[in-house]
Amino acid sequence: MNSLPPDLRLVPFTEADFSRFLPEILASEAVYPEALRETEESLREAMGRDRAFGAVLLERGAYVGNLIGFALEADPHRDLLIDRFRPLDPKVAYLFNIAILPECQGRGHGRRLLDEAVRLAREMGFSTLGGHFRDNASLHNFLAIGGRELGRIDDWFGTGETFAYAELPLDGSGV
Ligand SMILES: CC(C)(COP(=O)(O)OP(=O)(O)OC[C@H]1O[C@@H](n2cnc3c(N)ncnc32)[C@H](O)[C@@H]1OP(=O)(O)O)[C@@H](O)C(=O)NCCC(=O)NCCS
Repeated sequence: MNSLPPDLRLVPFTEADFSRFLPEILASEAVYPEALRETEESLREAMGRDRAFGAVLLERGAYVGNLIGFALEADPHRDLLIDRFRPLDPKVAYLFNIAILPECQGRGHGRRLLDEAVRLAREMGFSTLGGHFRDNASLHNFLAIGGRELGRIDDWFGTGETFAYAELPLDGSGV
């Protein structure tokens, strides 16, 4: 993995210490169109899930962005329509959120967070990292590290957005 420039720091978190980053993570949800934003409740629910993990990226100590993932369980598998693309498997980590503040985008930070998601998921013993990706730098970066698109969902829950569902094997063949 590429080493981080000295002014950047990745700080992993779990459900136990997630609250200290909640205000910044919540504020940075403004980067999404309103219909796609997470709330405090949905972020807490995500971090309360089985084997939830996350990280923030700090630049000179200031918050830049976050990632959140968790083990794929039956309800997100069904409710997020992943059952269209793959069977339920608890060894799949689901990338629930990845966001970089608008003024910090386009400088490789999203890729750094994605690399960190891969590292954390692999360290936790997951076999696969999956997620729904908007057709922007998010999907671009995931395909660039070896992710494969399994299918698309148009008009994601009435938001008008198309999301691709894609997965990366964590056995070392992808990155
Ligand atoms: C998606 C996001 C996390 C990416 O972070 P970022 O720091 O902007 O991205 P990076 O600088 O790491 O990567 C940019 C790469 O994507 C490419 N890119 C930028 N905009 C793109 C677009 N609209 N479509 C395709 N590729 C795009 C760039 O050319 C660059 O590619 P390269 O590294 O091969 O040159 C960030 O843009 C973001 O927070 N977006 C809003 C929230 C969001 O959509 N999150 C994803 C939810 S699935």
